[in-house]
Amino acid sequence: MVQSDESTGSGAVEMAALEAEATQAIAAASSADELEEARVRYLGRRSELKQALRQVRDRETGMVLNSLRDRLEAAHEARRAELERAGRATAGEDGFDPTLPGEAPPRGSLHLLTQLRRRIEDVFLGLGYEVYDGREVETVWHNFDALNQPEAHPSRDPRDTFYVDEDTLLRTHTSPSQIRAMLDRQPPLYLVSLGRVYRRDALDATHTPVFHQVEALAVDRDITLADLRGTVEHFTSAVFGGRREIRMRTSFFPFTEPSVEFDMTCYLCDGAGCAVCKHSGWIEMGGAGVVDPNVFESVGYDPEEWSGFAFGLGIDRIAFNRHGLPDLRLFWENDIRFLEQF
Ligand code: PHE
Repeated sequence: MVQSDESTGSGAVEMAALEAEATQAIAAASSADELEEARVRYLGRRSELKQALRQVRDRETGMVLNSLRDRLEAAHEARRAELERAGRATAGEDGFDPTLPGEAPPRGSLHLLTQLRRRIEDVFLGLGYEVYDGREVETVWHNFDALNQPEAHPSRDPRDTFYVDEDTLLRTHTSPSQIRAMLDRQPPLYLVSLGRVYRRDALDATHTPVFHQVEALAVDRDITLADLRGTVEHFTSAVFGGRREIRMRTSFFPFTEPSVEFDMTCYLCDGAGCAVCKHSGWIEMGGAGVVDPNVFESVGYDPEEWSGFAFGLGIDRIAFNRHGLPDLRLFWENDIRFLEQF
């Protein structure tokens, strides 16, 4: 009994000191985190108080400790409420706290073709070219006649081309932008024009009646096929990375003479041969050539004084192959699960 009395006595002193310390810590807590720290320390499972409570053998000690616990819990609750009120003070009556960080709105992503288009524009801007906007609804004259396209050419056929009326159509290529630009400007000129073009193709996994082309035109004195080659080489390397080599094959377009089709070394295997380039090492890019004197005549440029090169290529198929896409229609469906991958 004596022992027990003694221990109760010194225990009471200890508990009084503990209560003072705990009350002080709870009152001093200036944030929910600090308050929680104090709670864990003085009221948590491993706190001195809880341990003492577990060891209680007599009713009296139990009552003392329980009431101490009640007081500390009350102090904790009071402080919690105080801190909450203080928090609401910055929040205003309706609970809206303008000091809290906002929720970031979900961000969209640029369409893969828009990204490619902008990258191409950037490369040409770096070369000092102007980005020139053409028209999607064109006259037959701009789309065909001024480009030296013979009357009987099959691409004029309404089975291949969307006509609005006899003299108006949806452009079948970006080349009419050359005509518009040359009529608008005086040489020398260096420009690039990108946009949608239309051809009557049945829609399937590898054909869409709308696609995108890039057109480049340079008009200056003494321009040769070598300038064309250097420009195409720089453009493809800058857009597709690494050092792309260019191969030219003789071809025919009414608006260029000589005309070529050009390929670049495959961006996947670097020319070694793979599934993307069908084991040839080369990727077909587009058409090009030296501007035909007849085209200069249709815009009133003197072909004796001026020379130029032009090239054009479709970009949908390039992006399609480069990313191993299964279906060209993905470009038009705007399924966010597809779009957000790029
Ligand atoms: N307009 C041609 C096409 O659509 C490409 C081209 C552009 C060829 C410029 C030569 C010069 O196929």
